[in-house]
Amino acid sequence: MMRKIIIAGNWKMYKTQSEASEFLMEFIAQIDDAPEDREVVLCVPFTDLAIVSKSLHGNRIRLGAQNVHWEESGAFTGEISASMLTEVGVRYAIVGHSERRQYFGETDETVNLRLKAAQASGLIPILCVGETKQQRDAGQTEQIIINQIKNGLIGVAQDKLVIAYEPIWAIGTGETCESAEANRVIGVIRDQLTNPNVTIQYGGSVKPSNISEIMAQSQIDGVLVGGASLAAADFAGIVNYQ
Ligand code: PGA
Repeated sequence: MMRKIIIAGNWKMYKTQSEASEFLMEFIAQIDDAPEDREVVLCVPFTDLAIVSKSLHGNRIRLGAQNVHWEESGAFTGEISASMLTEVGVRYAIVGHSERRQYFGETDETVNLRLKAAQASGLIPILCVGETKQQRDAGQTEQIIINQIKNGLIGVAQDKLVIAYEPIWAIGTGETCESAEANRVIGVIRDQLTNPNVTIQYGGSVKPSNISEIMAQSQIDGVLVGGASLAAADFAGIVNYQ
């Protein structure tokens, strides 16, 4: 099997530079013996990128951002371009996280533009998709996910791409999607793709206590972790899963 295992943390709007440095000192010491089969990514706030990038030299953690704009430069107050990210050592960028879709007007169209710009600059985008509780209860999960994938991926290459299935009702709630159900939906996502080797992650209340069960699922190639990536011991517990 060619699919890469990727364990990614999403710090969201948490951690100043000093808090980030403190985290890394503790975290790096705890993942020394993590099996080689997995890539570890930290998606940190923009202000932490440079300092985290320096502290990563010589170890296996990869740096990620939480968003990327589609233009190279311009009058886009508050946005950041792919080349600004790659220059400080960023390899991955989350695109279309549900919090961006819900609170900041992100649509499948803007997601699509961001994905293409990220790839054009050599960044690997992590495309997030997921349904709300109402959509799930109304039996619309598959259709919502298929639309997000189809519309998001128009013209997007599938060889430098990661997808994260994050049911919105499971994010930050402590309520994890049953791993068999996450596996099923990820299978639906995989059926939409032309490249069978795309890494597809699960995200939503992943913690040290449920990581092994999640990673034991045949379709799940990694996780995108919010809350539990903020404490070094918790995130190390996830990275070191058996
Ligand atoms: P959570 O967040 O792990 O805190 O549920 C996941 C995410 O939003 O990526």
